[in-house]
Amino acid sequence: MDTNNFIIFVLSTILIVLIISPNHCSAQLKHNYYSNSCPNVETIVRNAVKKKLQETIVTAPATLRLFFHDCFIKGCDASVILASPSGNAEKDSEDDLSLAGDGFDTVIRAKTAVERVPGCKHKVSCADILALATRDVIVLSGGPNYGVELGRKDGKTSTKASVEGHLPLARFNYKQLRKMFASHGLSQVDLIALSGAHTLGFSHCSQFSKRIYNYKSKSSIDPKLEQGFAKELQKQCPRDVDPRIVIPLDPTSPFRFDNSFYKNLQQGKGLLASDQALYTTRKSKRVVNAFAANTTLFERVFVAAITRLGRLGVKTGNQGEIRHDCRVVNND
Ligand code: HEM
Ligand SMILES: *[C@@H]1O[C@H](CO)[C@@H](O)[C@H](O)[C@H]1NC(C)=O
Repeated sequence: MDTNNFIIFVLSTILIVLIISPNHCSAQLKHNYYSNSCPNVETIVRNAVKKKLQETIVTAPATLRLFFHDCFIKGCDASVILASPSGNAEKDSEDDLSLAGDGFDTVIRAKTAVERVPGCKHKVSCADILALATRDVIVLSGGPNYGVELGRKDGKTSTKASVEGHLPLARFNYKQLRKMFASHGLSQVDLIALSGAHTLGFSHCSQFSKRIYNYKSKSSIDPKLEQGFAKELQKQCPRDVDPRIVIPLDPTSPFRFDNSFYKNLQQGKGLLASDQALYTTRKSKRVVNAFAANTTLFERVFVAAITRLGRLGVKTGNQGEIRHDCRVVNND
């Protein structure tokens, strides 16, 4: 081979490898990313999360939702945690104002615990701590255990404008939900499995009050809602929305990570229109029925889906940094 042929050979080999490698467009995350730099990171984070959860049970839903909102906006880079002095960060956006403070606090506390360990100082990203804390709250709520892929860098920017129109809304129909998830490379099955996160936590009445008071016309109820459940909701949520009231997304067990969310959908007891929308097409009904019938199946598919969620827009090298304080970008 002469030099020219050799160069062409090398370049085409590189090209082929780039094309066929499974995650060629996302950074290579790995389970043991910190095995040299901070080998005990998983235990440190787990203990901090455990302590926080013992103090406040809403830590679990708050952290899980925070991870979702982070990953959907500019990738899983902890940009959702950045605070802006002028009130212009992601967290200040309309759609993120209802993120519970306990999710942020969980990450900040776990980060403090990690930074305190001499070898670990300035080694572990806030984005990875959020991914670990999310797994931990799932496990501690009775959900599946799984290995978390690590190696994300933290983002250096966070703007309100980046959120608008990029998070799914409670009034979305199935087509709108599918489209938004597909724009992140997530399938229908991923959408349905990830929505199972609504087995934990609460919603404000404003997110569904139209369904119980003013569906198509005044005083009409969404026909997809089971009527007894709708009457129950009317009792709990007055027509004039009281912003202090929250209702469990899964009324049977709001702090247990299980498959009851799907059983509720079968009975017309999905709280949000977007939840009940998962039980409207032939294919989506089949998936919901399968998850309702088999917890093991739901857990397996959920783990695969949240792992894919955790790969969205991951930053490496100079695209990001290891933030020292999760709330602010480094000033060096
Ligand atoms: C499929 C589209 C989705 C829509 C339209 C949606 C919408 C919502 C809404 C409106 C709330 C109530 C917010 C409030 O009133 O305070 C909520 C809560 C929640 N969401 Fe979602 N969500 C979706 C998907 C997800 C996903 C994929 C996850 C996580 C993997 C998730 C996790 C949560 C959790 C845990 C809560 C409860 C938060 C708490 O109690 O603090 N959601 N969601
Ligand atoms: C439930 O799903 C798991 C995982 O796919 C499968 O191995 C098992 O056979 C299923 N169980 C039933 C009763 O169908």
